[in-house]
Amino acid sequence: MNYNRTLITAALPYANGPVHIGHLAGVYVPADIYARYLRLKGQNVLYVCGSDEHGVPVTIRARKEGITTQQVVDRYHELIKRSFADFGISFDIYSRTTSDIHHKFASDYFRKLYDEGKFVEQVTEQFYDPETGHFLTDRNIRGECPHCHSLGAYGDQCEKCGSTLSPEELINPYNAETGNPLVKKPTSHWYLPLDQYQQWLEQWILEQHKEWRPNVYGQCKSWLDGGLRPRAVTRDLEWGIPVPVEGAEGKVLYVWFDAPIGYISNTKELCDAQPEKYGKWETWWKDPSTRLIHFIGKDNIVFHCIVFPAMLKADGSYILPDNVPSNEFLNLEGDKISTSRNWAVWLNEYLDDFPGKQDVLRYVLTANAPETKDNDFTWSDFQARNNNELVAIYGNFINRALVLTGKYFGGKVPAQGALNDYDRQTIEEFCNVKSELERLLNDFRFRDAQKEAMNLARIGNKYLADTEPWKLAKTDLDRTATILNLSLQIAANLAIAFEPFLPFSSAKLREMLALDTFNWEELGRTDLLPEGHQLGQVSLLFEKIEDAPIQAQLDRLARIKAENEAVAQAEALKNWQPVPVKDATTIDEFDKTDIRVATVLECTNVKKSDRLLQFRLDDGFGERTILSGIAQSYPDPSVLVGKQVLYIANFPPRKMMGIESQGMILSAVNADGKLVVTTVTAPVRNGAQVG
Ligand code: 2FM
Ligand code: ZN
Repeated sequence: MNYNRTLITAALPYANGPVHIGHLAGVYVPADIYARYLRLKGQNVLYVCGSDEHGVPVTIRARKEGITTQQVVDRYHELIKRSFADFGISFDIYSRTTSDIHHKFASDYFRKLYDEGKFVEQVTEQFYDPETGHFLTDRNIRGECPHCHSLGAYGDQCEKCGSTLSPEELINPYNAETGNPLVKKPTSHWYLPLDQYQQWLEQWILEQHKEWRPNVYGQCKSWLDGGLRPRAVTRDLEWGIPVPVEGAEGKVLYVWFDAPIGYISNTKELCDAQPEKYGKWETWWKDPSTRLIHFIGKDNIVFHCIVFPAMLKADGSYILPDNVPSNEFLNLEGDKISTSRNWAVWLNEYLDDFPGKQDVLRYVLTANAPETKDNDFTWSDFQARNNNELVAIYGNFINRALVLTGKYFGGKVPAQGALNDYDRQTIEEFCNVKSELERLLNDFRFRDAQKEAMNLARIGNKYLADTEPWKLAKTDLDRTATILNLSLQIAANLAIAFEPFLPFSSAKLREMLALDTFNWEELGRTDLLPEGHQLGQVSLLFEKIEDAPIQAQLDRLARIKAENEAVAQAEALKNWQPVPVKDATTIDEFDKTDIRVATVLECTNVKKSDRLLQFRLDDGFGERTILSGIAQSYPDPSVLVGKQVLYIANFPPRKMMGIESQGMILSAVNADGKLVVTTVTAPVRNGAQVG
């Protein structure tokens, strides 16, 4: 298929918080690389995004911050929009789903399908809070996770074990805000009968899009194999786009119905505002010679590959996505990134903490892009990639080529004399970079593509190191001229090759090279800078990052981790219920156990065990040693010295870690699952029996 234009969409981020590195690595950076690459090739491209301002996440944020939902979305829309722009994400439009244009567009879209009988209306039992009089769904409902049994899992997902949930699966569901228990109550909603699209989707995805990434194709296949069911496209909520049907008061469009329509309404907003530049919005969405690409995260696959295409098909006048490149997740320092737990590197904070270093983050996120599996961002890797790759390879090469040209040729591009075999071999190597880069970029393999661009810098670096023009200059200035000419041509190539990945550095390099314009097709050429061309001012392309700013980031994360643990503990305590009382026993049974009082003389960690504590006790008869597996609860076990504790005196001794334990200290399981030693407050004689 020959396409005339490419429409690139990036998943609309929820306006419930700033964007973080997980969003950037998963969606916005790869989409931006792709958009910049196609533009550099001279293609007609539109890169569309905006804030997703409906749905439960924004209302939860509003309650948390004690402000209105509108204030939340206003605040975060502005923040997200500004930080994307500062980070060089080159959207053609970044709008929002609370705009009038979007409300009308999404509402009309629903109404058309409604009028054409494309929905089915169904009454189902939904969770309802009788005290507040509200139906609750998704993240408004919490309860016990059926998989890992952590308390406080959400109605759509357990943050502890990561499983996707539906509210029905939660054990003891309750209102996330009030803690009220919920009941089921019937309510009527409109459903998109996905089952009716099953066959068509199977044909379209499984037959015609075998080239989609394996993770995307695989997820689609498993949804389709499981059999599609009708999906509600309305909700009983106050925040959202009102359902444009009489008698539907109190109901709004489901956020996942209106958000993808935001791609279309945002395109319309842009085209209507500047028709001479962008043409008609319909051309971008309805002309089959437009290629539509959705960049998304893996939790969005079903919506972009199944639900939204079914919505587009239901309307019948739209094109369908040609590809849906979706990434896996990025973790942070070994832990899942989470907005609610503040476990993230926030883009706005990064921009403040590392001014002028947008490209460093772009580089690291692409180098570590979770394209085929989840990946981890660590601050030490961030520092190492900057210092050992950007500074030591790319920056070093550029600096040497420019400084030497300044020193020996007054900053003017010297003449390219006769080439020797090594020059020709170097040229051949860097000429191959273009086709390799194209192959990888066309295949959405941004991580390998960036490696290939870096390879070009390595070629340049090696060329300079091998030819040593700084030594040759004393004896052979002509040869020095040729070497530096070629090096400068490689530098100009680097400015082009890296533009999609590191736009700020490319702009800076262009300035240093005084290179006015460039385009992708020039990549691989050795005449980009003519002889005698005056170069610009030289400065460092990248700067070393010292330990202090990295440590500051690690300290921040350590603080957050401690805060989160405290919150989780408080949460667990709040929701804690004692386990049911055991079956009846008898006094005779109980009497067999000899429980006594003893004073702790010494309490220390057992070497090579992170579990065991060793107690030396005054048991009234003399001394006794007992080992207890409670070390995790006592970072400083000496706090137990001097306390009177209870222990079972008539357990047979047993050896652990080579030490004989003579009994068992009694502990209670606390609400956070940790064992704490039970102590006696009224002074009792050591050896006294408990009964
Ligand atoms: O997962 C999310 O962050 C959603 N706000 C993505 C929406 S993408 C699109 F459909 F708008
Ligand atoms: Zn779980």
